[in-house]
Amino acid sequence: MKLFRTGAEWNPLWLKHLQKNQEIGLVPTMGALHEGHLDLVRKSKQTTDLTLVSIFVNPTQFNNPVDFAKYPITLEADLEKLAEAGVDYVFLPDVMEMYPTPTVLKFDFGHLENVLEGKYRPGHFNGVGVVVSKLFHILRPNVAFFGQKDLQQVAIIRRLVNDLSFKLKLDIVPTKREIDGLAMSSRNVRLNQEDRGKALILFNSLEKAKAELFSGRKWLEVQKGIEADFGQISSVRLDYFELVHPESFVIYEDFSLEEKSSICVAAYLDDVRLIDNFPVIS
Ligand code: PAJ
Repeated sequence: MKLFRTGAEWNPLWLKHLQKNQEIGLVPTMGALHEGHLDLVRKSKQTTDLTLVSIFVNPTQFNNPVDFAKYPITLEADLEKLAEAGVDYVFLPDVMEMYPTPTVLKFDFGHLENVLEGKYRPGHFNGVGVVVSKLFHILRPNVAFFGQKDLQQVAIIRRLVNDLSFKLKLDIVPTKREIDGLAMSSRNVRLNQEDRGKALILFNSLEKAKAELFSGRKWLEVQKGIEADFGQISSVRLDYFELVHPESFVIYEDFSLEEKSSICVAAYLDDVRLIDNFPVIS
């Protein structure tokens, strides 16, 4: 496994693989790697010739400075996991490599950044758009892998690739969960034991809501019931629980068997914010 820190180091490697007609898969991450990230790596290993993982805790996508300051960093363990998974390259840029000068360009993703994560984390998707564009330009992969866990991020990146004509394929990997159902997340390590137990309410509420929808209950009633469930648990604060179209993120008031839909949830456990989603009709 080869580590590199700059685009200049990557250019001759990229060219070598291009000349050999080898397909490069990129898995962009912010480190603190868990089995969810490794599922993306495994998918890349199975479907491309070479797997490249980037680790960069991108400051421009953190709307909350405390969240940035507390973001877990576990580089040594990450590199061990990646070597074990058979990764070929790891890109470890520093802030100066990614942002030699502060970015002034701003993305406007329209409706996508006015709802759910966009609304509750102003500026977040702009930061994601900037850093993912930079990674695509610097690394020029043939395929990029992202997790369904961050469904709205996937919608943002689809727009980015489409609107800016990036010549790569996107491959979206299903959410990896702990045995009890909690979606794996780098932020889970910040939960204390009590909050780890309470965090199951995200998964349980998604399951409950989906079952209620299929039993014929009206969405707005289901949503109200779930909001009440969240309200009963101390130190848990719900940001949103919404039924949306999984690509446009149009928010539904009614459920229909005829239209694609996903339920998305975001909640704080004390100061740790978690998100999750379930496809309902795909
Ligand atoms: P990060 O949170 O490290 O996630 C890296 C990738 O792993 C993302 O595509 C995310 O959706 C995926 N992922 C996280 N948890 C997952 C799970 N439980 N199951 C499946 N996939 C999962 O997302 C980011 O970093 C950043 O925004 C990034 C795209 C790297 C830009 O900075």
